[in-house]
Amino acid sequence: MDLTILAIESSCDETSAAVIQNGKVLNNIVATQSVHEQYGGVVPELASRAHQQHIVPVIDQALSGAKIHKQQLNAVAFTQGPGLLGALLVGSSFAKSLASALNIPLIGVNHMQAHILAHFIDDPKPKFPFLCLTVSGGHTQIVKVNDYLEMEILGETQDDAVGEAFDKIAKIIGLPYPGGPMIDQYAKEGNPHAFGFPETEMQGFNYSFSGIKTAVLYFLQRETKKDENFVKNHLHDICASVQHRLIATLLQKLRKASKHTGIKEIAIAGGVSANSYLRKTLADEGRNLEWQVYIPKFEYCTDNAAMIAMTAHFKYLQNDFLGMDASPQPRMKF
Ligand code: KG4
Ligand code: ZN
Repeated sequence: MDLTILAIESSCDETSAAVIQNGKVLNNIVATQSVHEQYGGVVPELASRAHQQHIVPVIDQALSGAKIHKQQLNAVAFTQGPGLLGALLVGSSFAKSLASALNIPLIGVNHMQAHILAHFIDDPKPKFPFLCLTVSGGHTQIVKVNDYLEMEILGETQDDAVGEAFDKIAKIIGLPYPGGPMIDQYAKEGNPHAFGFPETEMQGFNYSFSGIKTAVLYFLQRETKKDENFVKNHLHDICASVQHRLIATLLQKLRKASKHTGIKEIAIAGGVSANSYLRKTLADEGRNLEWQVYIPKFEYCTDNAAMIAMTAHFKYLQNDFLGMDASPQPRMKF
C-alpha cells in the first residue's frame, strides 16, 4: 500500500503545501507573500491574513498537481513551530480539521528539523552522523545529526540570526526587504576585501551577529559625512565585504566543529544556504579539508512544505502522531 502525506508550512511568510508518496515528493507549491516588502520586514498580523487567503488554493493546487485525491491521504502534517503564532495557527487549524474530517493521523513537524531533512528529498544524501549548518532568518545553528529524528545543537547564535543580519544590514544600506538575496546579487561584482568589519569572538561553537550590524551602521555614517554618495559609489564593494565577514564567521565555527567531532560529512540548510558566496566557499573549503559537502537544491533552501513532508514521512514510519489537542509552539525546540 502507498504511504501518501499532505504537508503544510505556514511558519513565517510563505504559504506552502506538498504531497509526498512513499518518501518521494510529488508536488510542492509555495505562495510567497509580497505584502511585507513595503514594511521592510514580516508583519505578523498581515502574514496570518495572507496565509488565511492562500491556504485553500495552495493545498488544492498541491493535491491536483500531484493527481492525489484527499481520500488517498494517509496523514496530514503541519509545521508546529518554531515560527509566528498567528501564522502557525492557520496551518495547524487547517491540518487538524482535514485530519479529523478524513479520520487520519496528524503529524506535527519542527521547522528547523525539516530544513535539515530537506537533504533527504533528493540524492546525494548525507550519511549519519553529519554536521548541518542551519542558517535562516530566525536561526543560526551547528547541529550534529545522528539520525533522521535525532539531532543535537552544538552551537547557535546568542543574538541575531545570520539571515536577520543580512536583512538588517541591507536595510541600513537602503536595500528593500528581504535584503539577503540583494546583498548576494550586488556582492557578485564587488571586492570582498574592500572594507574590513570586526568579528565578535564567541565561546565554543556559538555565534553573535549583532555587532557587525552596528559596525556597518557607524562605518557608513562616517563615510557618508565625507562623501554623501559613498553608498551609491561603493555599493558592490560594501555588499561583498559585509557578505564576506558574515560567511567567513559561519565557516570558521563550522571548521572548528568538524575538527572537534571528527565529522567530515557537512551539510547546509535554511534560507541563507541559497547564498551563492556561501555555496561556493563551502564547496572550495570541502575540497581543501576533504569534506563531503551537501548543498540543497535552491528551491529547498528557503521555506517550503516539501521539507515538512519529508520529515513527516520519517515521523509516520515511527508512528509519531499528535493528539487533536496539540497546538502550535512558536519557540519549539528539537
Ligand atoms: O529559511 P527562510 O526562508 O525563512 C526562515 O525560516 O527564516 O530564510 C529566510 C532568510 C532571510 O533572512 C533571507 O534574507 C535569507 O534567508 N536569504 C538569503 C539569501 N536568500 C535568502 N541571505 C543571503 N543570501 C541569499 N541569497
Ligand atoms: Zn525556514
